[in-house]
Amino acid sequence: MSLYAVSRGSQKHMCSDKTKNSPKVELRSAQWFGTRDKNGFMYRSWMKNQGFPEHQFEGKPVIGICNTWSELTPCNAHFREIAERVKRGVYEAGGLPVEFPVFSTGESNLRPTAMLTRNLASMDVEESIRGNPIDAVVLLTGCDKTTPALLMGAASCDVPAIVVTGGPMLNGKHKGKDVGSGTLVWQMHEDYKAGKVSLDEFLSAEASMSRSAGTCNTMGTASTMASMAESLGTSLPHNAAIPAVDSRRYVLAHMSGMRIVEMALEGLSLSKILTPEAFRNAIRTNAAIGGSTNAVIHLKAIAQRIGVDLSLDDWQKYGKGVPTIVNLQPSGKYLMEDFYYAGGLPAVLRELGELGVLEKEALTVNGKTIWENVKDAECYNRDVIREPENPLVDSGGICILRGNLAPRGAVLKPSAATPELMKHRGRAVVFDNFDDYKTRIMDPDLDIDENCVMVMKNCGPKGYPGMAEVGNMGLPPKILQKGVTDMVRISDARMSGTAFGTVVLHVAPEAMDLGPLAAVEDGDMIELDAENGVLHLDIDDAELASRLDRLKDTEMIASTGGYVELYRKHVLQADEGCDFDFLVGCRGAKVPAHSH
Ligand code: FES
Repeated sequence: MSLYAVSRGSQKHMCSDKTKNSPKVELRSAQWFGTRDKNGFMYRSWMKNQGFPEHQFEGKPVIGICNTWSELTPCNAHFREIAERVKRGVYEAGGLPVEFPVFSTGESNLRPTAMLTRNLASMDVEESIRGNPIDAVVLLTGCDKTTPALLMGAASCDVPAIVVTGGPMLNGKHKGKDVGSGTLVWQMHEDYKAGKVSLDEFLSAEASMSRSAGTCNTMGTASTMASMAESLGTSLPHNAAIPAVDSRRYVLAHMSGMRIVEMALEGLSLSKILTPEAFRNAIRTNAAIGGSTNAVIHLKAIAQRIGVDLSLDDWQKYGKGVPTIVNLQPSGKYLMEDFYYAGGLPAVLRELGELGVLEKEALTVNGKTIWENVKDAECYNRDVIREPENPLVDSGGICILRGNLAPRGAVLKPSAATPELMKHRGRAVVFDNFDDYKTRIMDPDLDIDENCVMVMKNCGPKGYPGMAEVGNMGLPPKILQKGVTDMVRISDARMSGTAFGTVVLHVAPEAMDLGPLAAVEDGDMIELDAENGVLHLDIDDAELASRLDRLKDTEMIASTGGYVELYRKHVLQADEGCDFDFLVGCRGAKVPAHSH
């Protein structure tokens, strides 16, 4: 497919004689392996127990392969084979590949939520790179949080880095229909609660939804973040969409291995790729693909690590007005496999370029600008990748909301919402936390109708450590049974990228930090006006202040000890990317002193 059309030039470029030339920068690894003394002896000797011959230590770039492989992260369980293909490329280009494991934050198994350990994984990545003889790094990413975690860690070191994603699963197939990861679960479970399908029928879809290696095949957070990595310029073209089991995924891994050797020799570090232009391109791309709201948090965290100023308002400024042209679930119809066959992300980036909203000079890891990479990309299916004149959603950018209920902002994904609910005033039905929601939502006597606004508190970064993906609260059965499928929902939580609905998320400050969300009471009226970016709690300022004042005396979070304690003490709010306060910034890759 078009992988070759786009990247043949890159392949030629990657196979140039440059790799045989002297490095343009001093290789970090020389400070381990490059000296003929006691220290050099010790560093080389222990490595030789793996069977590396002497010539491997004679000035070759050492390429770290940062692997999030784990059988507990099913989306990344095929990564050892991908790492092998990267190694082939590194050897072919004259480098020395060294694979190392980092904490694998798997979305489906890890409790309470993989987001709790995104920052932990990023610390693991950062310290593994800085403390080891690594000149450049290949980041093997897949499941949702592994992409931001690895980019955050590498950005804090500012070494040359290239992302290789594991790729999405093949289309799910259930009873003759294509079904999407996650999205099927949300839809079928609502049908089950409404009495439309039996429990056995619901459970029978498990195996058919996930039938190959890879990440979620919808435009969920994993596919969104893979697309963000590609639009940021941190991966080779087509990295986001090639299915995990397609042999072209291995070609891409091999070629990325070749290219990273050149990047090490050129000193093409992440700060030359992760520029303000690159982030603006990513924001526009997110709008065009109907990407996950989680990207708002992750891009902010990555930008802060590399020293780029990115605010919530940038999402409004650069994303608003960009049409959603990728017709993928949960916003649309198709799945990632279809997206790749239709032309993948290069075809979308070309449309953005033609529309005049792509900053074409942004540099990418293959040494070319993003426009050079995509200007000849083709679309092979105009129902999957729509023409901008015939979009899925006219203005697909993430909508940023502010008001007395969210002074530091909240987000809403228009492409997943119901247009009629984007301007809505309704009576609040309040759940104090996720447990309270679960306890009461099935109660037939719950005082709620479809015009109400469901509000859930205490699910933000500190309130539900990790800010779980529970913001897309399922509707009460009695409302589903009426055939209603969406209501306005508001919380300080996140939402799975595979989910849908008119769901206001990431309200900041969170309730646990005594943001105004903490003061909402049953019966208050709430106004949502997405077009004008307003989220308003209809009580006067004095009443709001008085309610928050009373809450000051309520018991705050109990001490838990361990990592969760560290997390709660140092996590920043959603508008600041939920990073730890002490991790913000680029600390570089200065080689630490010898210990022997
Ligand atoms: Fe891993 Fe969706 S659960 S990508």
